[in-house]
Amino acid sequence: MSSKLAVYGGKPAVPQGSIKAWPPIDDTDRKMILDSLENRQLACGPNVKAFAEEWAAWNGNKHGIFTNSGTGALHMCVAACGVGAGDHVLVTAYSWSSSATCIIHHNAIPIFVDIDFDTINIDVDKIEAAITPRTKAIVVVHLHGLAVNMEKVLKIARKHNLKVIEDACQAHGAMFKDRKVGTWGDCAAFSFNQNKCLCTGEGGAFVTNNEEMRAAAAQLWSFGEVRTPHESRDYHAYALGWMYRGNDLTAAFGRAQLKKMDGYFKAQRENGAVLNRRLKKVKGLILPTEPKGHTHNWYNYTSRIDMADTGWSGDASRFRDAVMKALNAEGVPVGVWQRFILPSMTVFRAKNAYGKGCPWSCPLGGKEAGKGVEYDPAKFPVAQKHSETHFGMTTPLRAPNGTEVAETVANAFEKVFGNLDKIDPDKILK
Ligand SMILES: Cc1ncc(COP(=O)(O)O)c(C=O)c1O
Repeated sequence: MSSKLAVYGGKPAVPQGSIKAWPPIDDTDRKMILDSLENRQLACGPNVKAFAEEWAAWNGNKHGIFTNSGTGALHMCVAACGVGAGDHVLVTAYSWSSSATCIIHHNAIPIFVDIDFDTINIDVDKIEAAITPRTKAIVVVHLHGLAVNMEKVLKIARKHNLKVIEDACQAHGAMFKDRKVGTWGDCAAFSFNQNKCLCTGEGGAFVTNNEEMRAAAAQLWSFGEVRTPHESRDYHAYALGWMYRGNDLTAAFGRAQLKKMDGYFKAQRENGAVLNRRLKKVKGLILPTEPKGHTHNWYNYTSRIDMADTGWSGDASRFRDAVMKALNAEGVPVGVWQRFILPSMTVFRAKNAYGKGCPWSCPLGGKEAGKGVEYDPAKFPVAQKHSETHFGMTTPLRAPNGTEVAETVANAFEKVFGNLDKIDPDKILK
């Protein structure tokens, strides 16, 4: 292997074209999608119901609802938990925007909790301090495919009578102890968008074991109607509903992909194991962890740069960006997932969600509902440090890429981190 970094003109460590695109498509996918097309029941068709049931069964839930996004499913969770105007809901300070905006969608107020640096998940030891008299629920996000310690979360929730929503949008198949995520809390949301471990293009699922919650979520899902579109509809809005239904073509694709899901999961675990073994002694790299009792799905293999090992005293994120460019030049598709921590996003800081101060100072939730709630990024230093030094990758870990791809990716990491002293952000980031 050439030791000259590809970003400076050396030969890339990962041969061009060797990393295959996600998701793998075969004749099962083609047949099921074409059958759906020919069937011409593209809205509320048989695949929508079947996929929801099959997904719930695969995950170990009694009920499932197929949605057009993970965000819709999250909003359904908030509603199903009985959260209302002016209530407070706790959520991690570092995630996708809609892990927190789903709370505002139901007129409630997000209260952020800093993350634990090792797991990148909500710091469970900081949850209790964030509870207010208005707190009704906690959204835990199993970020990048690593489950939150659900025993600790449930203990706090029981003590304070809080509902628990699992944002499992990135965590298909991940486990805490002997159970998959999405079976621990009151209800959960999955995403099936392009990047996710089950991809339908766009889509998601709401799951729960509780019949009342299923019914509340189903109402929100389809225009506030009580009967599902698979029953005879009366087209009456019994409550405020949205339109979060997924379509039959997408569901058919999901069903086909689900048949291959266990194989996908196995590939991710094997590829993750190669990277963990090869990279664990690489200086300057902080690898993702998999604490005892947790089964990671390696959705996103997220590392951090150990700035103390770099000799760089400037802006950490600039150095990180230069390392990423060097890895990209070696043929590794790494990227920054979220540059902004949630409390720094304008929608929260400016409290501009619905305008007129809602939900923070709405007459509806009580003008005092948001009293004292401020979003100051400086109060979440761990999340901030993570966001400045992390980078992640998804595709190289996914089927059909096998361990031979993971080995070449590991070669690239070793090459770049073996040459950290040559990483010059001023040269690389023009
Ligand atoms: C943690 C998390 N929550 C929620 C979502 C929202 O999912 P969707 O894009 O399907 O609405 C995502 C999607 O990227 C996510 O990563």
